[in-house]
Amino acid sequence: MTDIAGRVRELMAEHEHEFIATLKHLHQHPELSFHEYDTTAFIKAHLESLGIEILDIGLETGVVGLLKGAKDGPCIALRADIDALSIQEESSCDYRSTIDGRMHACGHDTHTTSLLGAAMILAALRSEIKGSVKFLFQPAEEVNKGAKLMMKLNCLENPKVDAVFGMHNSSEYPAGSVCVKRGPLMASVDRIEFYIKGKGGHGGIPQRSVDPVVCAAAIIQSAQTIVSRNVSPIDAAVVSICSVKAGEVNNVIPDEVVMLGTVRAYKRETQELVERRLGEITNGIAAAYGCEVVFKYIYELAVTDNNNPMMCDAAYKAVSAVATPVDPIPSTGGEDFSEYAKTNVPTFFYWLGVRNENEDCIYPWHSPRFKADLRSLKYGAGTYAMSVFTAIDQLRK
Ligand code: NI
Repeated sequence: MTDIAGRVRELMAEHEHEFIATLKHLHQHPELSFHEYDTTAFIKAHLESLGIEILDIGLETGVVGLLKGAKDGPCIALRADIDALSIQEESSCDYRSTIDGRMHACGHDTHTTSLLGAAMILAALRSEIKGSVKFLFQPAEEVNKGAKLMMKLNCLENPKVDAVFGMHNSSEYPAGSVCVKRGPLMASVDRIEFYIKGKGGHGGIPQRSVDPVVCAAAIIQSAQTIVSRNVSPIDAAVVSICSVKAGEVNNVIPDEVVMLGTVRAYKRETQELVERRLGEITNGIAAAYGCEVVFKYIYELAVTDNNNPMMCDAAYKAVSAVATPVDPIPSTGGEDFSEYAKTNVPTFFYWLGVRNENEDCIYPWHSPRFKADLRSLKYGAGTYAMSVFTAIDQLRK
């Protein structure tokens, strides 16, 4: 393993200029979820040039590649997302997006580049791989639909995958570091919808109406007690009502208020508690105010939870060999990577440090000024590549 780690580090350094060129190309040509056509063609050409087989699982955008090692053994999947956002770039990059209103503002280009880099490293070390590697270039992470599609198309079958690693960048941690968190790293993402019906009327004669706006206000206030009074102080949850739509003019009480929001948590039990309490509060308050209400709680994404001890060990060993491991503070952002874990295949999710204050790489995900330190790319590539060796090693024990 020491030898392999040394070879991986050599290849990281040797190919770094190519990683940087790849990142710049992808960054200049961002494509939105499920429209990643040029990105897909670019990835395919790159994999084919390395002798990596392209598997046709029925994806229109996104790519699945397979690299068979010298011997039979476990199949390790490495996943990167490839899509960009509808954001006008304002970063200080000299390789800005060439497309107006579109930008890699979540740094998925760093993930794609890192995985293409890993493909270069692993193709060079093919004779050392006692198993195989599946490359999952996933579309449409930003709309929470890409991983679901990949799973529907059985991306973890033929050959059957024994472990999956994924990665997201983080501008909270310096380039050169990679975060290895045991336990939950990113939160569940649930959608809440409220349809509150009253009886509209004259704003000056409220006694003849049933005002859904006052009812909605009471629900908004009371919903905030769930985190402070119902969720254990040791657990975490977020309840945010982000959209409230009611009425058009200043003196008419509307018939209906529609509210939309999001709930985040780190445990399934917490999600279920919030769902139950939101339902009780909403229905109870609506009854008290004489309104009718429809409340919907929609489970969108599960927690991204590094809960497999074998994978945690493999991840820590991989990062220790090629970068500086960091124990991060989890985020209440979500990730559709959690979809891959639903089949009970062992998974692990990294954060790649991309922060560099001297290079203006300090902005959070989805900021128009988002910028990743290019020095992070070789650590991303090295971490993905090294994970294959440490995971195969663990799985063969
Ligand atoms: Ni992202």
